[in-house]
Amino acid sequence: MGFTVFELLSEALGLKPSYLKDLNCAEGLFILGHYYPPCPEPELTMGTSKHSDSDFITLLLQDQLGGLQVLHEDKWVNVLPVHGALVVNIGDLLQLITNDRFISVYHRVLSQNIGPRISLAAFFVNSPDPIQGASKIYGPIKELLSEEIHPSTKNISIKDFLAHYYAKGLDGTSSLEPFKL
Ligand code: OGA
Ligand code: NI
Repeated sequence: MGFTVFELLSEALGLKPSYLKDLNCAEGLFILGHYYPPCPEPELTMGTSKHSDSDFITLLLQDQLGGLQVLHEDKWVNVLPVHGALVVNIGDLLQLITNDRFISVYHRVLSQNIGPRISLAAFFVNSPDPIQGASKIYGPIKELLSEEIHPSTKNISIKDFLAHYYAKGLDGTSSLEPFKL
């Protein structure tokens, strides 16, 4: 499923279908299972606070309880659960290599007084170690640059990028900011 999404995204960029897979964007798959217990005072806290994912793409399966929201034009919009559907999020690393043609999406999960809510997130990353990362360097894809379109971000190793991502925490700011040119 992820490979198919990478093929479609490559084509949408005007690149050959295997382009993103050939860049090893789907080399590592890291899966998180989330368990959100019912919260007695949901207005006082968040299930998961505002963040964008660090990876290339995330395929997310949420259950029927909902609670996931994406930030769209400065407003939080509910991503209503659709039975049998997966949510596909663009992550920071895809934003980096597409030179901001695809923008990683800010999202969060509200806490609710019903539950437990269960979700499964499959993160497509480059490295077999999703926390330490690998020394492989990524930067804006050359084919997407021209005389007029300059790279917006420096080339960075997955390792350095993830070190920054985890040190910063889910504070609601973009993890690409310090690497912008
Ligand atoms: C995540 C995430 C959303 C959810 O794991 O990065 O955003 O619905 N999860 O649990
Ligand atoms: Ni997320």
